[in-house]
Amino acid sequence: MDGLTLFYMFATILLIILMVAMSIHVLNYSGFNKQQKGWFIATFASISFCALAEFMLHGIPYDPRFKVILTILTVLQFALAPCFAMLFAGALGLRYQGRIAIIFFGICLLIGVCCAPFELVFLFRDVADETYKFGYNRGPLFIIYLITYFTSLVYIIIALFIVGRKFHHRDISTIIMVLVVLAAGIIPMTIYQLHIAYIAVGMAACLCYVYYNDLVQQDTSAELLEKQQKISELQTQITARLANLIESRDTETGGHVARTSEYVKTLAEDLKADGVYTDIINDHFIFLLYNLAPMHDVGKILVSDKILRKPGRLTPEEYEEIKKHASMGGTVARQVLSGIADEEYLNFVSDIATYHHERWDGNGYPNKLSGEDIPLCARIMAIADVFDALVSKRCYKEAMPVEEAFKEIEKESGTHFDPKLVEVFLKHKEKYASINAEITDKEKGG
Ligand SMILES: [Fe+2]
Repeated sequence: MDGLTLFYMFATILLIILMVAMSIHVLNYSGFNKQQKGWFIATFASISFCALAEFMLHGIPYDPRFKVILTILTVLQFALAPCFAMLFAGALGLRYQGRIAIIFFGICLLIGVCCAPFELVFLFRDVADETYKFGYNRGPLFIIYLITYFTSLVYIIIALFIVGRKFHHRDISTIIMVLVVLAAGIIPMTIYQLHIAYIAVGMAACLCYVYYNDLVQQDTSAELLEKQQKISELQTQITARLANLIESRDTETGGHVARTSEYVKTLAEDLKADGVYTDIINDHFIFLLYNLAPMHDVGKILVSDKILRKPGRLTPEEYEEIKKHASMGGTVARQVLSGIADEEYLNFVSDIATYHHERWDGNGYPNKLSGEDIPLCARIMAIADVFDALVSKRCYKEAMPVEEAFKEIEKESGTHFDPKLVEVFLKHKEKYASINAEITDKEKGG
């Protein structure tokens, strides 16, 4: 075996191993759909076939006895060249490229088959002399092959622009990458008659794949993020509208939902900044708290209008009835949001709706939980809820001045409220006073 044969052999084996490895990678780890995976495998299989054919044609010294089989291999290989260019475009996500590839393959094959017996495109010599030592040479009509190859090249560029539009502004770099692949195949082969060109094509195809797969993954994750954001916006809107509905039944609590949401958000942010309960409070916690706080009184759906709108003090029976909004709040919240929110969301909203009337000393309702047994989100909600009730006007009482309300909250520290929360709340009281003033003004202003 001479040096050239060995070189072709190792190059071919290397390329085939590379193609198999890339194919396994595409099948298992790429973000491609079934169709795209199919085209990639087809592309890589055709590259492997061409490399193998090259080896047979040029790696082994020409023997006229194998003229027929060598002619068939040559015709197939050259028909496959434009075809795999098409397949490659197909692999980049175009739907109809497969069919077009078959047309190119068909035309090329037909020309090859018709011309082969007359050696018009690919020329074989019956004698293995020095001039025609290796495989085929160019026949007088070799131009036919060049035309089909160039036509497919033009087509693939157009196809890439179409793909490029789908993949935002990165089409230029994708096109350059694929042009490199094609140039690697066509220039050495047609101009310098270097028959190892397919190795370069294979390598470049692998590079293209790695690059392109990366782009697809980026686009997919960006798309996913956008969808997630839409869903979360939808959830926020649903909860906000639902909360407004509940509020509109309860005629006296205008602005309560908007204000309490701002209070809990501000308090949670202050707690985080002051290093209190930072094992529980993070940005996600604050997001959930802010978005789900409007649902704290969702259980009021079950309380009759008569009690809810009753002016003046409630009888003990009526008070028992109104307490149900907490004991049933979790169940109602779950029922209302099930299907549009995940389990974490449902647990969080259920905690707020059920436990926002619990007290630190264990004398609250519905479950008489005490201390840190009460979920933190409900403990935060309790302060916001009570503070807002104090500073708001009711038909049976006037609005309490904010300074007085802060004193009330302070008085209840350790009995009604978690003392750590009260401390942070009072430390930043000017924020709560201004939220109250701002939203109440907006309410009055219409
Ligand atoms: Fe409540």
